[in-house]
Amino acid sequence: MKKIIPENFLWGGAVAANQCEGAYLEGGKGLSPVDILPGGIPVRKEALADVRKTIETTYDYYPSHVSIDFFHRYKEDIKLFKEMGFKCLRTSICWARVFPNGDDLEPNEEGLKFYDSLIDELIKNGIEPVITINHFDTPLELTKKYGGWKNRKLIEFYTRYCEVLFNRYKGKVKYWMTFNEINMILHIPSFGGGLVFEDGENREQCMYQGAHYQLVASALATKIGHEIDPENMIGCMLAAGTVYPNTCHPNDILIAQAANRENYFFIDVQSKGEYPRYSERLFEEMGIKLDITDEDRKILKQNTVDYIGFSYYSSRLKSADPEVMKNIKPGNAFKTLGNPYLKESEWGWTIDPVGLRVTMNDLYDRYGKPLFIVENGLGAVDKVEADGSINDDYRIEYLKLHIEQMKEGIKDGVELIGYTPWGCIDLVSAGTGQMSKRYGFIYVDKDDNGVGTLERSRKKSFYWYKDVISANGENL
Ligand code: BG6
Repeated sequence: MKKIIPENFLWGGAVAANQCEGAYLEGGKGLSPVDILPGGIPVRKEALADVRKTIETTYDYYPSHVSIDFFHRYKEDIKLFKEMGFKCLRTSICWARVFPNGDDLEPNEEGLKFYDSLIDELIKNGIEPVITINHFDTPLELTKKYGGWKNRKLIEFYTRYCEVLFNRYKGKVKYWMTFNEINMILHIPSFGGGLVFEDGENREQCMYQGAHYQLVASALATKIGHEIDPENMIGCMLAAGTVYPNTCHPNDILIAQAANRENYFFIDVQSKGEYPRYSERLFEEMGIKLDITDEDRKILKQNTVDYIGFSYYSSRLKSADPEVMKNIKPGNAFKTLGNPYLKESEWGWTIDPVGLRVTMNDLYDRYGKPLFIVENGLGAVDKVEADGSINDDYRIEYLKLHIEQMKEGIKDGVELIGYTPWGCIDLVSAGTGQMSKRYGFIYVDKDDNGVGTLERSRKKSFYWYKDVISANGENL
């Protein structure tokens, strides 16, 4: 029988510097936005919503300062990834480790040395590094000094940073992503764009302007990356998840289409090289006037991405009826109605494996470029039994159902490069700052208050995923 998943498929896992490294001031590192954020709901949410206030506030505990101490323990962790049979690891480089202030003229050699060792260690263990250049961590100094991505100057700082990375890791890193979840700038602008808003400022204007500068920066990074090494595969990264209409009422269909376009807008630009025509009306209705030059348009047109990376946690649901929309759920960065046909995670995220197939097909139909599922997973509370075992059957079930649908998507004709479940080792949650929202195959002994030995242990899902990889997804 024909095998569904190609032989060279990149099975692995995903983490991000800002959520796993810790060592927040080591080796000359500058501050990242996450370093001033507290943990816990709702305090984290408030802090993310108003960074100006957060900068001036002192909290008792900052989860990112030590995090899971990947900075010192990466060798031990890579050993465990290897044991699971990982073909790749998606991680990010922390911009403020390399350029502590963001606008420095020369990179910080000590910061780079850490990534030299990390990347070499991965390669030594037969694990392909997949690198996100900016995962929610535009250096804090750039927010303080320039207001974050709403300033055009950031394009120059970012491309300088990219050039250093492409040169340094030439021949070692092939798969890159320019910005994690680039559409997140519309939902958590502090994370996505290091943005702060002045009183009375048009937020939409700031966010779309910031997005434009990121899109130009991403295209320039693609250009530089291809010039330095034509073998480089440079991708974008979308927080994906198709938005369903709440009913078959045409107004619901229309509003769901608009919500999907709000996300696809970014990838339309990165993949097709130009602003979609629907954006004209969108901008006009929101009173947005973009600073966009002919040169920008040329850069966008000439430097489209090689593949589409995306995260998928859930589908979403939208209604055109304001009364129905009053039932919108809080929790996720993406506001959604509850779907009566689907269950939810402990954090209220809709669980929709079939939605992964829908999303894969939507993206592939629209762009016709290879896809890479670079995040997927279940945040759940794990219980350590008296004998030390962690029986996370719920996580196995979630991943199994999603991999099944991923295979269906491949059968539908989607070209898929790989699958890297999120938080393959427990790490700090981006949204809540909690440790108890665990995604990993590997348990890390640390609680929401920072207490714990940081010791690593294998969960039941660790052995399950190992088998999945070794059978190349044939047995789930
Ligand atoms: C994605 C991000 O949005 O979702 C990750 O790229 C994040 O950084 C992940 O951790 C899961 O979200 P959370 O809030 O559960 O950590």
